Amino acid sequence: MPLNSFQQDILKAIPCQIPPIKEYDLEVNHAPKRKDILSMEEKKLALKNALRYFPVDQHKELAADFLEELHKYGRIYMYRYRPDYKMYARPISQYPGKSEQAKAIMLMIQNNLDYAVAQHPHELITYGGNGAVFQNWIQYRLTMKYLAEMTDEQTLVMYSGHPMGLFPSHKNAPRVVVTNGMMIPNYSKPDDWEKFNAMGVTQYGQMTAGSYMYIGPQGIVHGTTITVLNAIRKIAKNREDITGKLFVTAGLGGMSGAQPKAGNIAGVISVTAEVNPKAAQTRHSQGWVDEIITDLDELAARVKQAKDKKEVVSIAYLGNVVDVWEKFDEENIYVDLGSDQTSLHNPWAGGYYPAGLSFEEANELMAENPDLFKKYVQESLRRHAASVNQHTSKGTYFFDYGNAFLLESSRAGAEIMADNGIDFKYPSYIQDILGPMCFDFGFGPFRWVCASGNPEDLEKTDEIACQVLENMMINSPAEIQQQMADNIQWIKGAQQNKLVVGSQARILYADAEGRMKIAEAFNEAIANGEIGPVVLGRDHHDVSGTDSPYRETSNIYDGSRFTADMAIQNVIGDSFRGATWVSIHNGGGVGWGEVINGGFGMLLDGSDDAKRNLRMMLHWDVNNGIARRNWARNENAIFAIQRAMEAEPLLKVTLPNIVDEEQFESFFKGNN
Ligand SMILES: NC(=O)c1ccc[n+]([C@@H]2O[C@H](COP(=O)([O-])OP(=O)(O)OC[C@H]3O[C@@H](n4cnc5c(N)ncnc54)[C@H](O)[C@@H]3O)[C@@H](O)[C@H]2O)c1
Repeated sequence: MPLNSFQQDILKAIPCQIPPIKEYDLEVNHAPKRKDILSMEEKKLALKNALRYFPVDQHKELAADFLEELHKYGRIYMYRYRPDYKMYARPISQYPGKSEQAKAIMLMIQNNLDYAVAQHPHELITYGGNGAVFQNWIQYRLTMKYLAEMTDEQTLVMYSGHPMGLFPSHKNAPRVVVTNGMMIPNYSKPDDWEKFNAMGVTQYGQMTAGSYMYIGPQGIVHGTTITVLNAIRKIAKNREDITGKLFVTAGLGGMSGAQPKAGNIAGVISVTAEVNPKAAQTRHSQGWVDEIITDLDELAARVKQAKDKKEVVSIAYLGNVVDVWEKFDEENIYVDLGSDQTSLHNPWAGGYYPAGLSFEEANELMAENPDLFKKYVQESLRRHAASVNQHTSKGTYFFDYGNAFLLESSRAGAEIMADNGIDFKYPSYIQDILGPMCFDFGFGPFRWVCASGNPEDLEKTDEIACQVLENMMINSPAEIQQQMADNIQWIKGAQQNKLVVGSQARILYADAEGRMKIAEAFNEAIANGEIGPVVLGRDHHDVSGTDSPYRETSNIYDGSRFTADMAIQNVIGDSFRGATWVSIHNGGGVGWGEVINGGFGMLLDGSDDAKRNLRMMLHWDVNNGIARRNWARNENAIFAIQRAMEAEPLLKVTLPNIVDEEQFESFFKGNN
């Protein structure tokens, strides 16, 4: 069959003629201008680095263009090389190539850059403001060409978006190995990212952006629902009715926007404050939040009414969250559950809007007088924390949502430290909820994409997954029955909730056994011709994928939460157990230098090889983390790893001996 223009374009990679300059499209959401951080010498280096991709006779024309991009945007994106074809995950059969595995990766890359999915598609940013798939369009083009040309006897090596090349390997090796932002530890501060990214030698891959595994907002809706649901259960003593309970939080942005939807699924009243009218209106128009209120008195009255009637409703308050906490305190409105999802990982450049300033005033001040703006932010955080403290003294359960609220509040001098002066007063969502209730048992964000692009395939995989979980639940121990039930309910409602944006993807939380059984059932259905090939993966934010002391591994209490052996071991282990691609990143979620996170992708094609690989790799991919959590003396992980050893005689894990606290304390006293 002759190649169509899309396939020809992929195989051409870098056009012989320099393409015309593309107009800056104002309809598209663009990345902010990045810091001008390079010295003149470093700018020259950045330019030379960019020109490496092109023949010398083109350098003069391109140098002028690239230098302008560097000055205007703080980065060289090579906009003129952005392809003209539509960017979306095509059915796998439409990709040119010699390797089905490589074609599956092309599909996933295009999904991450789909305009419906990506946050700043022209800057190759999928989410989180800086989560990059590539640094520039030539890297994208070259990578797609390599993938289209490679065989199953080669591995493509990706250095932070740059395709270093194809290296001979073997059929069972990963087709692609990705590293993103891997720095020498001393060069891993936020400004190092700005500098080395501007030079074109590294990138911030976030979690699923630079590993080609992002599946749109569905992943966040599910994770947030699981968190809110379990948080409510934590405070609903003795299965007390949860209706009429009030959840107060902030943020209707990228991830935070899932909070009201999760509140509705969990069955509570939620109030989410948002200072940016555009963000609030977007979520309202998408049906993710039911009502928008702009006046505090009206808000208080509406909440009292909702409590009286035990409504399930999500309310957006257009204004500052500090005002909501203070108003509810004054009015004695009891808040059952509280959190915060302002972007405090980025406090000085628009992540957190201080109380007392309007949205517009804050935007102006942060650009014109950053020092004064910082003072406002810190003052606001002190007020914010003081009001939360007022509420918790009345019984509110407050948790940190991994957005650095407690960290930044403590740095601002807020009353947020526990009595020991080391810990915070409040737990993180991982410490109290996802860690002990999910990760320690092996439950985490397993996902799959139907590579045929056919919605009927997704429907069939939903049915298969549901059937597998229902069968498993019959014999599940009591400890994990709730998680199984939640995920069965989720998968049953998934079609109706219309969660697909981009590729035909689904997420659910499953443990090692669940992931393996679901994957095996998919592989069988593919072998029988019931469905097309399926790509498996997960978020890095999982049992074993991420070492992040204030988030994913914040419920590790043996001192090892500042180590990153688990994430590194995980990606190495996945790579020789049959993963189709693996990735390891610095910085996802909480910032450059603060976390190491890794992931995988695996193509199921119905073959016996796929069956062997999925069993071996998924088993390791979950049990590595459980083993480590068990060694850290986490009770649920000790339970889970012992169960895993009973099921698999080749698994032998070192178990911890737990000291007798009384004996230990008296020994310690006697020797001090
Ligand atoms: N949802 C999750 O699963 C999850 C998990 C871990 C961490 N987080 C963290 O949550 C934070 C939010 O992520 P996001 O993608 O939604 O970011 P975002 O920047 O898109 O959204 C944050 C929103 O908060 C609003 N805001 C800021 N200050 C405010 C204030 N004082 N009052 C009211 N509104 C205010 C902003 O206008 C913005 O719309 C990040 O720090 C992220 O790392 C989320």
